Amino acid sequence: MATQSIEAIVDEMTLEEQVAILAGADFWSTPENERLGIAKMRVTDGPNGARGGGSLFGGVTAAAFPVGIAIGASWDPELAEQIGSAIADEVKSKCAHVALAPTINLHRGVTNGRNFECYSEDPELTSALAVGYIRGLQSKGVAASPKHFVGNESEIERTTISSDIDERTMRELYLRPFEDAVKKAGTWAIMSSYNRLNGTYTAENEWLLTDVLRKEWVYDGIVMSDWFGSRSTAPTVNAGLDLEMPGPTRDRGDKLVAAVHSGEVSRETVRSAALNMLRLMERVGSLNDTTPFRERADDLPEHRALIRKAGAEGMVMLKNDGVLPLSPEAKVALIGPNAKEVKIMGGGSAQLNPHYMVSPFDALLARIGAENLSFAKGCTNHRWEPILTGDFELSFYRGHDLTSEPAHTQSMDSVNAFWVPPFAGGQVDPTNFAAKITGTYTPTTSGIHHIGAHAAGCARVYVDDELIVDCWEDAWTKGRTFFEEGNDEVVGAVELTAGRAHDIRIEFRSKTPDNLNHSALRVGISVPMTEADIAQAAEIAAQADVAVVVIGRSGEWDTEGWDMEDIHLPGRQNELVAAVTAANPNTVVVLQTGGPVEMPWVSDVAAILQAWYGGQEAGNSIVDVLYGDAEPAGRLPQTFPIKLSDNPAHSQDPEIYPGLNGHVRYAEGVMTGYRHYEKHGIVPMFPFGFGLSYTDFDLGQMDLSEDGDDVICTIPVTNTGARCGSTVVQVYVGDLEASVERPARELKAFAKVALDAGETKIVRMTLQPRAFAFFDVTAGQWRIEAGSFTVEAGFSAADIRSIATVQRDDALIPV
Ligand code: BGC
Repeated sequence: MATQSIEAIVDEMTLEEQVAILAGADFWSTPENERLGIAKMRVTDGPNGARGGGSLFGGVTAAAFPVGIAIGASWDPELAEQIGSAIADEVKSKCAHVALAPTINLHRGVTNGRNFECYSEDPELTSALAVGYIRGLQSKGVAASPKHFVGNESEIERTTISSDIDERTMRELYLRPFEDAVKKAGTWAIMSSYNRLNGTYTAENEWLLTDVLRKEWVYDGIVMSDWFGSRSTAPTVNAGLDLEMPGPTRDRGDKLVAAVHSGEVSRETVRSAALNMLRLMERVGSLNDTTPFRERADDLPEHRALIRKAGAEGMVMLKNDGVLPLSPEAKVALIGPNAKEVKIMGGGSAQLNPHYMVSPFDALLARIGAENLSFAKGCTNHRWEPILTGDFELSFYRGHDLTSEPAHTQSMDSVNAFWVPPFAGGQVDPTNFAAKITGTYTPTTSGIHHIGAHAAGCARVYVDDELIVDCWEDAWTKGRTFFEEGNDEVVGAVELTAGRAHDIRIEFRSKTPDNLNHSALRVGISVPMTEADIAQAAEIAAQADVAVVVIGRSGEWDTEGWDMEDIHLPGRQNELVAAVTAANPNTVVVLQTGGPVEMPWVSDVAAILQAWYGGQEAGNSIVDVLYGDAEPAGRLPQTFPIKLSDNPAHSQDPEIYPGLNGHVRYAEGVMTGYRHYEKHGIVPMFPFGFGLSYTDFDLGQMDLSEDGDDVICTIPVTNTGARCGSTVVQVYVGDLEASVERPARELKAFAKVALDAGETKIVRMTLQPRAFAFFDVTAGQWRIEAGSFTVEAGFSAADIRSIATVQRDDALIPV
């Protein structure tokens, strides 16, 4: 069979066999066909590593790379390519063929729970990085599946909301990264989004999947649904959705065969989708890949090194009054909830079980030794109580009767479960089961403890037979956890005694999910922190030469499945920074977030380092930059506003954000990101493209020349400082005489340049005709209007160093 062409294979398949490969067999693979010798094709999340098959938690360990926004901040497509290539190795180690990555939606607002996973607010930057990452993956025969196509810029009502976006905005912004993924990177797969686009589910949107993607962009890969995001038979197949995921099928199989017999779907449409699937299987080598499914944990030194380097490449120094790099002799007070409890990634489907994690504390201890290091946590920043761990017994029951005989029993060491089939040894119906977790908890301190629980399903927690947390039946209300299927955490308080083994009993029963088919449960416990903890942090700061405060959020906040309600630092972190700064003005704030936060202390602290979530080497990358072993080579891929209400998605009109009656209207059109701040005269806290270095750079006069229809920008850039470093030269274009409203400046080219002290390099960048065009909806083409255009070169959207103008003639560019 392997020698046959895919055309010959598809024609040998019966209708039923063709239909079978248009849906998953299980959560992470497509079905095999023994008769024709077609093996399974496996997929894995993505995008900051390869989690492999199984649940969101646990599983075989994998290399954890920096998250999307950190790669966005690197402004380095070559680095993205190296990461893509390394992740291809990881995908193979998980016996998979397709990476569900990269995530290339744009940062429309600042609260989207998935912004951490996406690169940038800007389509040019996002496209360039996506192209690099996809090339890296596919160069090793692993398919990329850029996601989520398209208009998935928020997690609110994410499986049903309609993103209402006008066509010009879509073409210029949100479609652009996907267009380049197809045209420049030749992606082999694409994942449609959950949302509707102007009223029609993207998985059923013929204009999107067939007219634009297949016909205009000449795409020959597959489109797969997001998980449970395919909700119909004929409409999805006819629109151009090749693969329903996950399996087993809900809407295809016999239903699709019947739809063909009734004439709702043509035989040719099924054949062509099946051919697309076979083409992908051939490309990734899965057609006859019968290697046994044995996932490996390949913890490779070259991946460790790449992750550590990438962490620094994306780290953005937002402020430095000279305290950084730190003196190697300085006594350091390390403070904050992210200093010892390591935060390396965002939450949701992007999370994985890392090979290891290096915290800032571990890395600093290794660098300066215990004698120079003191530590205080100061306060907490969790969204949910820290996970309850211990030796527990987990029993599953058929149906909801917890007094019946258990169907399956296993051990559990942390009460954090995400149940998708197969689980419970396959002994229960995943939609109708109950579970009981029993064991003991022995506290180390006496006093009030907080116990929190949330579940996709009903849950209640008993301590010593007393009900402490109740989210059972009527006490359960739908919230924003577990991909919009869980309740918001319910917290109860209980007095516990140090050294005593208190009995814990947790009961769970499944509920019928609204959109996605999973059950989940999380129970946590902690001793609440107080003013005394902040005071203790200030005290150690006062005794040290410098205070390094590692704060921010975690994957509990920066996560798929919800949008944040504000951009305040959670908990009492602002108070903590104020107290520490008052005690020691030499305070360096290291921020770990997936986007901007309000910084009431911005002018009081000595330095700010935006570190995002750096993957398994997060602590090492931070310490490398703090001591100047590596430079902070990142630049902001998203504008940081002073306050939430300054951001482009903010409006008094709920339809603009977060949405109203099932619609979210992108009324700002093309004026998003830095375009928005410029248009409304809003001064951001830190502009798009901004980032300091340990050295200084200067730009000389830009020279423009023409090469056919292209404009070539030639710009000298000099390192005027005393050490080597890199900078990002950014080129923005503005149309001075447009007949439609256009942004004053739009990023159209950029280059990351490394320079020795005193060195000058000449940077050449090409502006192709599309760089001057807007999308003319009436003509259905890109239009350049004759007249003058500004071409600006600088170090951020607000730091333009050299301006030139160029004339262009009228022109139409086909899609
Ligand atoms: C996410 C996708 C992910 C898929 C599989 C969905 O909830 O939106 O990005 O690839 O799950 O985990």
